[in-house]
Parts: sequence; C-alpha cells; structure tokens
Amino acid sequence: MNANPHVAIVGATGAVGKELLGVLDQRRFPLSRLTLLASARSAGSVVDFRGEKLTVQELREDSFVGVDIALFSAGGNISRKFGPIASAAGAVVVDNSSAFRMDPDTPLVIPEINPEDAKQHRGIIANPNCSTIILLMVAAPIHRLNPIKKIVVSTYQAASGAGAVAMKELETQARDHLEGREVKPEVFPYPIAFNAFSHNSTMDPDTGYNQEEWKMIQESHKILHDDSIRITPTCIRIGTFRAHAESVHLELSREANIEEIRQTLRTAPGVKLIDDRNRNYFPMPLEASGLDDVLVGRLRRSSSSDDGKEVDFFCCGDQLLKGAALNAVQIAELLLPKS
Ligand code: A2P
Repeated sequence: MNANPHVAIVGATGAVGKELLGVLDQRRFPLSRLTLLASARSAGSVVDFRGEKLTVQELREDSFVGVDIALFSAGGNISRKFGPIASAAGAVVVDNSSAFRMDPDTPLVIPEINPEDAKQHRGIIANPNCSTIILLMVAAPIHRLNPIKKIVVSTYQAASGAGAVAMKELETQARDHLEGREVKPEVFPYPIAFNAFSHNSTMDPDTGYNQEEWKMIQESHKILHDDSIRITPTCIRIGTFRAHAESVHLELSREANIEEIRQTLRTAPGVKLIDDRNRNYFPMPLEASGLDDVLVGRLRRSSSSDDGKEVDFFCCGDQLLKGAALNAVQIAELLLPKS
C-alpha cells in the first residue's frame, strides 16, 4: 500500500460519508488525493477538505482508476455492485454495509479487537454493524479476561443508523409534535420522535428476531472467533440522533471480579468508564455523541446470578463515529505501511 494513498469515499454526502471526511482530517490520515463519490443528485456539489474545495462526482464504474482505498457507505446495493468493481480496479474496499460481512473471504474487523484479521483480505474488508461494534468494544476485553458464555443485550438505537434522512425526520417530527402539527412517518414505519419501537429491519416471522438482531449474533461470533457464545439481542429504535445505547447482561465462565473488570475497562482502548454511583452519573447518548470512545457504566454483579458469574453494564457509543466512520478509517489505517 502506498504510504500516501488515493482514497475515495462512496456516499460522501451521506450521514456516515460526512463523518468519514471529518475523521480522515482529524486523524491526519495521509492522503495523496481524496475523491468524493455520490449519486447524480449531488454530483457537482462542493465540499471543503483541509482548505481545498473538492467537487463531488457521480459514482460510475470507472470511478476507481488509481484509487488505493475505497471507503463505501452508500448502502448494500451500491456495495454489492461497485465493491467488486473497485477491488478489481486495485483498490482495497472498506465497506460499511452488511453486503459482505458474513462472506467467509471477507474479514470483519474492529481494529481494537481483531486487527490481524484485516491482513487476510482479498480486496474487501467489512466494517461491522454499529450495535455489534459498540457491544464488543466493551464485551471483548471482558471476554479476554473471563470468557463470555452468554450475552443478553437490549439496544436503544439512534435515528442516524437509518441515514441523514432519518435524522432529519426525527428533527421534523419533534418540531411538528411540539407545535401541534400532524406527525407523518416517512423513513421509519412509526413516529420516531418521543417514541420507541422494535428495530425497523426485516423481522423473521419464524424466529421472532429481526435482521439487526441476527447481525449482532452472527457478527459477534465472527469477530470473536467463537460461535459457542449464546447471544440474544432485542433491538429497539428510540428518538435520539446519533448515539446508540445498550443494556447488557453477560454470563461469564468464572466468578466475576467486578474490580478486575473495572480495571480492564479503564485501560481498554477506545473505551471510557463512567460509573459514578454516588452521583447517579452513567453513560448517556447525548454525552457519547461526537466522542470516539464507547462509554460504559452501571457495571455490577447481576442480582439474577446464583453463582456470581453474571454481570450487567450499560454502554453508549456514537453510531456515526465508532459505529461507522471512525472504525472504517481505523481499518484503513491498518492498511498503511508501518512507518
Ligand atoms: P446522494 O446524497 O447523492 O443521494 P445516508 O446513509 O445518509 O442515507 O447517505 C447515503 C449516501 O449514499 C449518500 O451519499 C448518497 O448520495 C449515496 N447514494 C445513494 N444512492 C446512490 C447511488 N445510486 N449512487 C451513488 N451514491 C448513492
């Protein structure tokens, strides 16, 4: 890989695409050139990046000539069509969609957890689902200390997971509701402002689990290289803008030592412990918004445990950053030659 690669962002005008620009800049990602790609609708629009004006181009089959790294965030259909085209043109694709995540030839990577998997890529590396990333940023360090046997997780997911239009819908509905106008759901199936509903991904009528929940199960097994962990998620969408929250119950292999887990989480990369019982101060989506770190607190031995092997915690992470753009740029950093 070129030490100063030519990077392309596919979906540069979207919620994650805009964050990708910010993260590349903030992390001083070495670049020889940045190409911004989106649909014909936004072709010609101009974006400021590091003091330069970059013009968004329409995504086309010949968009990837000379591109070293292509960061995709324009949905699964675009990834399925253009991901292989980009990699055939010589780019390494870091894909934010679910299109290739469970493909056995595609590594699924959280750089703090399984960076070595990235080396096995054959042109495409997948960025995991946002709820999976936020869960595992906390669960994986605990798993290394005391292997996890079971995870029971409930999510409280922000609008941003459904893109910029969904964030706009939350804002519009909140205003409409407060000003006494009719609330009209368009992106989500139900009102998102002042509400909570089962995740809007496809529900499997046989199992009673939706697609988001299956992603959390299958992707966690793949990233941790351990299919034996039993996982049951309940994914819920709530009216927050960009940070997901998760309430997590773990069954561990050995008796849980809370002080040891606390110490592990204090030093875990990309994790920040906020666990102040005296002030009733714990992680919140509002405070996690705009942060790189996943916040964790409410850490305690579970009262449902007979043998002391079960723990509970609550975590929050910015869906657009660690859940998407930041993780993708960290994967791209793994591709750079070691300086
Ligand atoms: P555009 O803004 O031109 O529609 P989000 O996840 O926030 O909904 O953003 C989706 C991103 O994917 C946007 O940048 C959007 O570009 C881009 N996109 C959607 N459809 C296409 C397409 N057919 N070709 C290229 N980019 C697309």
